[in-house]
Amino acid sequence: MTKMILNADVKLGKISKHIYGHFAEHLGRCIYGGIWVGEDSEIPNTGGIRNDVIDALRQIKIPVLRWPGGCFADEYHWQDGIGPREQRPRMINTHWGGVVENNHFGTHEFMLLCELTGAEPYICGNVGSGTVYEMQQWIEYITFDGDSPMARLRWETGRDEPWKLTYFGVGNENWGCGGHMRPEYYADLFRRYATYVRNFGGNRIYKIACGSNGGDLRWTEVLMREAGRMMNGLSLHYYTVPHTWSKKGSATVFDHSEWFVTLKKALAIDDLIARHSKIMDHYDPQGRVGMIVDEWGTWYDPEPGTNPGFLYQQNTIRDALVAGITFNIFHKHCNRVHMANIAQTVNVLQAILLTEGDKLVKTPTYHVFDMYKVHQDAEAVELVCESGRYQYGEESVPQVTASASRNQAGQIHISLCNLDPEHEAEVNCDLRGMEAGRVTGTALTANAMNAHNTFDQPELVKPQPFDQAVIRGQTLTVKLPPMSVAVLCLE
Ligand code: AHR
Repeated sequence: MTKMILNADVKLGKISKHIYGHFAEHLGRCIYGGIWVGEDSEIPNTGGIRNDVIDALRQIKIPVLRWPGGCFADEYHWQDGIGPREQRPRMINTHWGGVVENNHFGTHEFMLLCELTGAEPYICGNVGSGTVYEMQQWIEYITFDGDSPMARLRWETGRDEPWKLTYFGVGNENWGCGGHMRPEYYADLFRRYATYVRNFGGNRIYKIACGSNGGDLRWTEVLMREAGRMMNGLSLHYYTVPHTWSKKGSATVFDHSEWFVTLKKALAIDDLIARHSKIMDHYDPQGRVGMIVDEWGTWYDPEPGTNPGFLYQQNTIRDALVAGITFNIFHKHCNRVHMANIAQTVNVLQAILLTEGDKLVKTPTYHVFDMYKVHQDAEAVELVCESGRYQYGEESVPQVTASASRNQAGQIHISLCNLDPEHEAEVNCDLRGMEAGRVTGTALTANAMNAHNTFDQPELVKPQPFDQAVIRGQTLTVKLPPMSVAVLCLE
């Protein structure tokens, strides 16, 4: 039995909608085929961008989209991606399969994607192999509202008005693929590059420094100490890998022990955020600098038969649990975590969408984004949870994780995950600080741990109305099916 107390009048802070952000890299079939098909394609598109993808992203209210990488960002030279497409230079995408990148999807195409979906752009600049000048010019090209060399270049390439750009990353994984730097060296480079990331006209840039690789606390310490004053955000990357980096495990062929270890590793992001936050609190007690978890999600072995450099993997109800668990943790840390971006949007890693030709599949992870969107920009409220245990062999983790928020209309949303694939979870919740008359809900569950949607069966795993939540007086009781994610609305 899981006991909870909802203190609906105890506010914990605003859950930024940007926690529900996404990431699209020039990697495998994420951009090409997944998002961009070109204007001449027979696949229905708007200015070259797939209409089915636009609709799906609008549906989940995508708040922000990070681009062009990832590791690709530190090899990307933005001027190669503007002007007439057939004349754009080509390059080798050395990180991801060694394929030739034709640069048909560049700044204008990315900004169009953002406009069509309603996402705010988050652009990651090149520190690893790019110059300060190049970065400075990119910002001028995108945002300068007067007459300047870069504004003129933008006019010539078809855009008169500057765009609004808020989020800008100064490099990516500069401890690894972005240049193998030491934190001291990168902190100095950040200070230098960030100096030339200018605010033109009314545009204000939120500068994001490259953060740590998982548990590397020293990186956070050095960055906060040496460059904290010059940044608005510091990133953090964390991937849930069931086994090891060389043998990660399959996305669809796994047993109960792999289910357990995957969810246990997903839960570990809670402690990771807490440890990095402690260092950030020391240097930034006001909580001004946001923690930007701009890459997170599951990472398995690539689907057999696909290019290993393309990181294509299927997505099951297990991934839905990882997403639900992770969002509940982000809500808990909403005062420090200002943004998060799942890796990645289409056809790569924990993708929310999969495509094959003109077909599109919404994965179980997509449905969690759809169900949880009610939390975007809502006020997190206290939900004390004494969970029963989900035991596997000698080990155990909480059976249930949960979080709650109040939206502007006064509705309370509670999201719940039952991690146990074999047992129902009974939840008993005291409702305090509110008078609730009615509860409605939606749940996502499946009959098998590896249940997933395919191009032949695209709706095998999808949310269903949920009637196993009842309010009597000031008590809410819920019967959560095994391996389920549920969102309740109390009003
Ligand atoms: O998301 C795939 C890759 O993972 C990104 O390019 C990189 O930043 C990280 O290592």
